Amino acid sequence: MKTWKMAVLGVAAIGFSAMSANAGELDILKPRVPADQIAAAKAMKPPFAVTADMIAKGKDVFTGAGTCYTCHGAAGDGNGPGAAGMDPSPRNFTNSQFEQVRTSGEMFWVVSNGSPLQPAMVGFVTAGQITEKQAWEAVIYERSLGCKGDMSCIEGSADWVSKQPVHEEAAGNLKPEFLNTAAK
Ligand code: HEC
Repeated sequence: MKTWKMAVLGVAAIGFSAMSANAGELDILKPRVPADQIAAAKAMKPPFAVTADMIAKGKDVFTGAGTCYTCHGAAGDGNGPGAAGMDPSPRNFTNSQFEQVRTSGEMFWVVSNGSPLQPAMVGFVTAGQITEKQAWEAVIYERSLGCKGDMSCIEGSADWVSKQPVHEEAAGNLKPEFLNTAAK
């Protein structure tokens, strides 16, 4: 009984230190694109056919010119060195629920213009760090991390996203004020 209690406390302590290292993402169900632009953003499509070659180019942008990995992590799980203490935390692209609620056009909008909810996620295109083409490539690569080879998911059209279930994220991953704020 005593050993059992200690094991439980140990797990709780690990959980707590993991949470304090990473402040937590904001709700995936809360759109980042302002309301007056979201319809247009959702309708945007990658300007090229989504192929394995494009995903490979996107990886080059993610780990190179875009410096995305510094915050989003080499594995795209949101745990890059720059993520320490960042609140809200960088998006975890390996969470397939994220790709199911977000279109590639909405992601492209954020990479172009930045996130209104997190100034650290700057607009890489408007800042002139990467081109629009590179931004699309990076988005497609990021989606490939959670889409596990499903090309429709990687392409992420508004039509495909509208057919996916709306997920409630695990409470521990989110700030309380963003729980259950479903808006799609
Ligand atoms: C300085 C750290 C940092 C860098 C570098 C960075 N990001 Fe982010 N990114 C963030 C943070 C923090 C968030 C979470 C913002 C939020 O919750 O709105 C985020 C969120 C995102 C999102 C998700 C927005 C949504 O719809 O929820 C996308 C897409 C994204 N980043 C793409 C990129 C790409 C592509 C690059 C490289 C060109 C990049 N990021 C580089 C910190 C960074």
